[in-house]
Amino acid sequence: MTANAQRNRRGGVSAIVIPIAWVALAACSPDLDGDRGQPGSRLQDYALDYALDYALDVEGASEGAIGALPLGLELAEAVTAEDNPTTRAKITLGRLLFFDKRLSVDDSVACASCHSPAAGFSDNLRVSFGIDRRQGERNAPTAINRFASSRQFWDGRAASLEEQATGPLINPLEMGMPDLGAVTRKIAAIEGYQELFHEVFAQPVSIDGIAKAIASFERALVSGNSRWDKFDAGIIDVLTIPERRGLGIFFGKGRCDQCHSGWNLTDEKFHNIGVGFDEEPIDSGRLVVTGKTRDTGAFKTPTLREITRTAPYMHDGRFETLEEVVDYYSEGVISNPFLDVEMRRSGGQLAKAIGLTGERSPPGGATPAPVAAATLDLTAREKADLVAFMGAFEGEGWQWAKAPDSFPQ
Ligand code: HEC
Ligand code: HEC
Repeated sequence: MTANAQRNRRGGVSAIVIPIAWVALAACSPDLDGDRGQPGSRLQDYALDYALDYALDVEGASEGAIGALPLGLELAEAVTAEDNPTTRAKITLGRLLFFDKRLSVDDSVACASCHSPAAGFSDNLRVSFGIDRRQGERNAPTAINRFASSRQFWDGRAASLEEQATGPLINPLEMGMPDLGAVTRKIAAIEGYQELFHEVFAQPVSIDGIAKAIASFERALVSGNSRWDKFDAGIIDVLTIPERRGLGIFFGKGRCDQCHSGWNLTDEKFHNIGVGFDEEPIDSGRLVVTGKTRDTGAFKTPTLREITRTAPYMHDGRFETLEEVVDYYSEGVISNPFLDVEMRRSGGQLAKAIGLTGERSPPGGATPAPVAAATLDLTAREKADLVAFMGAFEGEGWQWAKAPDSFPQ
């Protein structure tokens, strides 16, 4: 069932066309200017070209243009803001802002401090450090492939990348600016930015422009063309035998694709998988956004692309390795009254024993389902294979986005 189930994720053979375009694009990457002397700069320029191609595709959203995206990414599902068309100039400005520590109150923290290219645009910390080494409660998710979602944050409280971008600036535990007006004034006082904002928006520096530029930059942080994508396009050899077995578990016995589904390995929905219910007080997750009891402790299914680079894992960063994550799914899921139905497929006995009843009723309005967690009972080999398979989600498309050499003055 595995390869077929996999193929269904985008239901067509069009993917096979893409690698050719991708290769062609790489080969034809024009030598635009003379400064190709240093190693690495070619990749960078190529990638900017690529980012522009990508950006234009999103605007045009024409079928023929899809070749500009790395293999495996679904252009049709890109989420863009109507009033914020992506352009090369905006991506370039957004990159400067994303890496610029002057967006924080004491010039010490940039977006990239917690979303660093070296860590797959995350930070490899259980929870991040903001200004004055202050710490929040949640783990920094990757900023890669966010173009695929509208709702941002673990609880989805921001409705767009544009809306998300202003949050950290004034979060007292992150960048600590007193208010958004102060951010605008601080950036507007930098002449180089004044000029760039006039070029890009034909307007003075504004918080709206800052958010739009940063969001555009993030939309160009993509990851595709992974070994999984290539396998899916029919290049079977790219996965080792253990990885192929792991794929079988991911889409079969492990049922991981019940939530980590589709080309970006997420259903973009919110689920309670029990993480955090062993702590007091619990992080109520999505509940604070919807006010619905059943969303207690539910968090957004994260993408698994680049997952090997973004440890530690889960909204509270509790697991340092993918092995620990897999152990959790296999036999560690924490029972609680709001546990997602997918996590309690066979947990009836335990539920009776501890006297919990389900929040959601099964179809047909029968007795509430038990809420105890099921165990997957994966063998040691199955666990190792599953972990190995997740290594095949390492891809490319975001590597161009390194810290700029200098910032506007
Ligand atoms: C101090 C560390 C820190 C800084 C600085 C920071 N972030 Fe984050 N970022 C986080 C954490 C932690 C979360 C998760 C918070 C939550 O979900 O409640 C997050 C979430 C996000 C998300 C949502 C990802 C998703 O999958 O939903 C995006 C996008 C993002 N940040 C972009 C940015 C941008 C843009 C900036 C700069 C304006 C920035 N971050 C600054 C730590 C940081
Ligand atoms: C019921 C939906 C669901 C199923 C089934 C599921 N996951 Fe998840 N997964 C989630 C959610 C939601 C989170 C985030 C939970 C949190 O942080 O509290 C998550 C987090 C993860 C993470 C950590 C991601 C990160 O960036 O921190 C990994 C790795 C992962 N899942 C792998 C798997 C594997 C492997 C399987 C199959 C054995 C699986 N998941 C099954 C919903 C699911």
